[in-house]
Amino acid sequence: MLASHKRWSMFDLKGARVLVVGGTSGIGLGAARMAAQLGANVAVASRSPDKVRAAKELIGRGASGHALDTRDEAAIEKLFANEAPFDHVVVSASETKSLPVKELPLDVAYANMNSKFWGAYRIARAARINDKGSLTLVSGYLSIRPRKGSAIQGAINAAVEGLSRGLAIEFAPVRVNCVSPGLVNTPLLDRFGDRKEAMLAEARKTIPAGIVGESEHIARQIIACMTNPFMTGSTIYLDGGGSIS
Ligand SMILES: NC(=O)c1ccc[n+]([C@@H]2O[C@H](COP(=O)([O-])OP(=O)(O)OC[C@H]3O[C@@H](n4cnc5c(N)ncnc54)[C@H](OP(=O)(O)O)[C@@H]3O)[C@@H](O)[C@H]2O)c1
Repeated sequence: MLASHKRWSMFDLKGARVLVVGGTSGIGLGAARMAAQLGANVAVASRSPDKVRAAKELIGRGASGHALDTRDEAAIEKLFANEAPFDHVVVSASETKSLPVKELPLDVAYANMNSKFWGAYRIARAARINDKGSLTLVSGYLSIRPRKGSAIQGAINAAVEGLSRGLAIEFAPVRVNCVSPGLVNTPLLDRFGDRKEAMLAEARKTIPAGIVGESEHIARQIIACMTNPFMTGSTIYLDGGGSIS
């Protein structure tokens, strides 16, 4: 546990208890692996027991896991009641569907919000986090860089970013931040099927950084949110310059 700031180091999470909700794939898995490499005792949570099992093996270093659906309030409360408080909690879990507003059925729009915004809200509400620890939410740069067919995602991401700032005030001295990624090459993009490679190639050509984001790029920032004691109430747009191009 983080007894004091003296334990703080950018490269050392030794002994810290870290929970990554959504830590079995993509950005969350990247953050969980990096935290474990920096010495944290890592737990991951997501819906699929198979993914939880595979992530635990990949992370190694005694990582533990929980099958958990962020839409299930009772299961979330049970998890935190049964666990000692964590030093750092990350929420990167969500599943949302994109379509233009006029084509997206309302029940799917509501389900998107339930998964990503209310999922993060439910975790934040139930989480027990040690003083000087942190909560990091993951949103997405559509909050400030709208695209056709993704208005609902932009609105949800903006809501997550606003939530993180409010929580930073309410939860202090626990620090609360939000990481807002641009396009990142994770299993999330598999839904684009044959169009995925063309999309990545286009991104390489158009975004200022000239590369597509990888989970590790975002994980580095999530680790900074955990370890920088001066960081709270911040939303970091990490998009290779995508939001200004
Ligand atoms: N990749 C990008 O380009 C990008 C860009 C901007 C923002 N983001 C945001 O970053 C976050 C992480 O994305 P990613 O690319 O890492 O996606 P990903 O690879 O699909 O990972 C999503 C993770 O969330 C879990 N999950 C989904 N719904 C859940 C639920 N209801 N309860 C518990 N766990 C759930 C999944 O596991 P299970 O299936 O086992 O539940 C998985 O571990 C998402 O919020 C996404 O919107 C991603």
